[in-house]
Amino acid sequence: MVGSNKYFYKVCIVGDSEVGKTTLVNQYLKRRFVADAQRTIGSNFFVKYVKIPEVKHLITLQIWDLAGQPRFKWVRFAFYKGASGIVYAFDLTRRHTLDSLINWKEEVESKIGVMPNIFVGNKRDLIIDDTRFINAEEISQFKETLSANAYFETSAKLGTNVKNVFDILALEMYKNTHIII
Ligand code: GTP
Repeated sequence: MVGSNKYFYKVCIVGDSEVGKTTLVNQYLKRRFVADAQRTIGSNFFVKYVKIPEVKHLITLQIWDLAGQPRFKWVRFAFYKGASGIVYAFDLTRRHTLDSLINWKEEVESKIGVMPNIFVGNKRDLIIDDTRFINAEEISQFKETLSANAYFETSAKLGTNVKNVFDILALEMYKNTHIII
């Protein structure tokens, strides 16, 4: 089976610097933790072929890892063009990275409007005794604000839920453009 343009989707992963965007992408592509991910300069992109049970075709994801630092805002604007899906990532150990997702949503939507997206709390492995600053009610409010298709708590270190993020996003992007029989 080969990928084709018909089932090709561009995905951008956004969120504040150091939330673990590059590490999530590395874990997804290489199934291992790359501990020394360098700060992303501008952007990098990667291609992954995905097979999900609901879709009989092979889906091609082109994943753009965009630098989270404010000084790269001008670079990011150019790269949102053509994106069919977004991963909004925050760090479960840093509250302000969650609040920032409102700004990320505005930045993304000012360029491409509302797209299928997944809301992700990363660094799940650092949460001890299940105590987190975000509760279920707030998760559901943010999910609604982002119009997110799903919320996942991931560990890019251990690999927890990382594949689910991209598989569900691939399915949602597919459903946005095709009918599943
Ligand atoms: P920018 O390139 O500046 O936008 O940052 P980024 O969001 O791509 O973050 P990056 O992937 O570089 O990760 C930042 C730091 O967090 C690194 O030291 C990673 O090793 C660490 N990290 C990322 N994900 C996890 C995780 O799930 N668990 C733990 N414990 N550390 C993580």
